[in-house]
Amino acid sequence: MITGEVYSDNRIRLFHNDVLKILDDLPENEIQAVVTSPTYWGKRQFTDDQNEFGCESLENYVERNVLLYSTLLSKMKQGGSIFVVIQDSYMGSGVSRSHHNHWISGDDYKRNGIDSSRQGNTSSVTARHKKIKNKSLCGVPYRIALKLVDMGFVWRQQIIWQKPNPMPENVQDRAWQSVEYILHFTNHGKYKFNKELFSVSGANGKLRLPSQVLVSASEPKPGHSATFPKKVVERLLLTVTDENDVVFEPFLGSGTMLELAIKHNRKFIGCDICKDFLVHAIDIIKKDSVHLSVPA
Ligand SMILES: C[S@@+](CC[C@H](N)C(=O)[O-])C[C@H]1O[C@@H](n2cnc3c(N)ncnc32)[C@H](O)[C@@H]1O
Repeated sequence: MITGEVYSDNRIRLFHNDVLKILDDLPENEIQAVVTSPTYWGKRQFTDDQNEFGCESLENYVERNVLLYSTLLSKMKQGGSIFVVIQDSYMGSGVSRSHHNHWISGDDYKRNGIDSSRQGNTSSVTARHKKIKNKSLCGVPYRIALKLVDMGFVWRQQIIWQKPNPMPENVQDRAWQSVEYILHFTNHGKYKFNKELFSVSGANGKLRLPSQVLVSASEPKPGHSATFPKKVVERLLLTVTDENDVVFEPFLGSGTMLELAIKHNRKFIGCDICKDFLVHAIDIIKKDSVHLSVPA
């Protein structure tokens, strides 16, 4: 049994752990897809665990994400896909002001606490960086993607998730952030892709592939404010997996992917560093009687 395994049946396994600590124990050549979203750098915080993604330095955040996806791409089935939903962050001034984040600045800067009652979609990080100027975008998605490309993995697309209901921002000299990025990586040029399930109806009534901008309102759930756009990730899941394929979600959160895996008869492995989300996930499984009766 892997450390932190809290649930297992013939189709679903759940882990309460830092995902980087369970990587060695994940099965080789079984995972077909990963559809996930790490805690964004310098934004929300769900636990006081120093291993939670998002509270380390920018450089460590990039390294840890790259370690996670490169290990998974190496372990997955050939032709497997990873979709990472991620947003960029703005560097800050080093001054805390009324911000909810409190950062220790300096070379090895990291977050020193957060006012959990005031977590919003604040886009700037209060850390001061040696090179990156206050107000500059950090380029987080690109830093991660380019490292993976240089390691020999295929960065197939950057899908834009456009939100028609963006969080208002108190800025006067740029547009509100209204999109997130969905980075698609694969470990092989030929990969599973159910084209018709990704397609839309064209002007002539025939199916065609969609534009790379997918529009969907954000859907915060009670108890978890940073959830996936369900319709978008459902479409991605169906496009790159078939029934009984194994899906891994390293950042389980409110269990969006778990629900979709059960609904569409995929096998599922999930992990989260926050115990409450595992308790919630086990409730989701118990409420569902159907998957327990499906043969492995
Ligand atoms: C953006 S949320 C994911 C939301 C999820 N996609 C959903 O729809 O509910 C990020 C999640 O990553 C978890 N997390 C952060 N660092 C982690 C780590 N080192 N290992 C495992 N889970 C982690 C957080 O507890 C949080 O639930």
